[in-house]
Amino acid sequence: MNNVTISVIKADVGGLAGHSAIHPDIPEIARESLEQGVKEGILIDEHVAWVGDDLQLIMTHDKGENNREVHKLAWDTFQKCAKRSAELKLCGVGQDFLSDKFEDTIKGLGPSLAEMTFKERKNETFVVLMADKTSPGAWNFPLYKIFADAFNTIGLVIKPELARGFVFEVHNIREKKKIVFHTPEDIYNLLALIGAAGTYAVKAVFAKTGDVAAVSSTDLLNLERGQHVGKEDPVCIIRAQSDFPAVGEIMEPFAQPHLVEGWERGAHFAPLMPVAQNQAHPSRSDGPPRAVALGFQLANGKLVGPRDLFDDPGYDEARNECNRIANYLRRLGPFEPSRLPMDAMQFTTLPQVMDNLSNRFEDIS
Ligand code: 13P
Ligand code: MG
Ligand code: MG
Repeated sequence: MNNVTISVIKADVGGLAGHSAIHPDIPEIARESLEQGVKEGILIDEHVAWVGDDLQLIMTHDKGENNREVHKLAWDTFQKCAKRSAELKLCGVGQDFLSDKFEDTIKGLGPSLAEMTFKERKNETFVVLMADKTSPGAWNFPLYKIFADAFNTIGLVIKPELARGFVFEVHNIREKKKIVFHTPEDIYNLLALIGAAGTYAVKAVFAKTGDVAAVSSTDLLNLERGQHVGKEDPVCIIRAQSDFPAVGEIMEPFAQPHLVEGWERGAHFAPLMPVAQNQAHPSRSDGPPRAVALGFQLANGKLVGPRDLFDDPGYDEARNECNRIANYLRRLGPFEPSRLPMDAMQFTTLPQVMDNLSNRFEDIS
């Protein structure tokens, strides 16, 4: 079989109620639209998923990345869903659209995307991570643990193909610059940047052979439009097994919840809670932020699955810990470090308040 491309493209087309979930009509419309794309030969296969108020289109095809037909199909699908959301007056209808005009690519129009192309292996396993109420750098912590931390991934120690290490492509998502790190030799420099997840996001990870291992979405909507409407809830595709980390090694970092940006009005830090898709409806303070992991096998480009990987009592303790951390953080209310630091608050509605206060400031003599 020729190369296969996995495209995961997502958008918030409107929430029920508020920003907590999507309406059941929305995935129905999306499925029908993508199935038409399969019939027309644009896609090989599709799966529609959601987390919170975000609609995720998981698509396989042989058209390569950044393909006009595939992106147009995704764009038209979001538009059909947004039309239904508008009829239902859902919350924040089409909040992720920066433009209403599709030209050649969906890039820059608002929806977030992650795409990867490879030759399908004899056994091709991959995981799609999706999150709500957070932002692109949310995958930095798990991607580091999965591909560079031997205490997480025993394969780095006992499997020669993994022991060669990996190559991390890191983006400065505010200044649109990139830098590459080879692990394990450059892990400290890598951590110097990706620990600042609001500025630096791991865009992709490659095996030392050049084969793609992981790709995440790093689109920053609020930066483009200069104001907060919603968060750029990110997705990530990770290949698993044989020369890549095992599914279990990809899942393990989520057993130790980390803090991410994005809770309540995109203005707070919160623990990222790993949940089954049927628990991906963040309502407490519009959160805590949720992560869903769907595992697939590929068979000649066809999707087999998914397995809802956080639908596992093995994550009960992680979820309890998230609730304990969330209780503590919520007690701090509008105080940092529960609230994001001032530079990150520029992407919320706080600047409107600062503008109102500007003429009340006086010099201190
Ligand atoms: P979303 O980015 O998921 O729409 O959330 C917006 C928000 O501010 C919720 O409090
Ligand atoms: Mg929303
Ligand atoms: Mg969302």
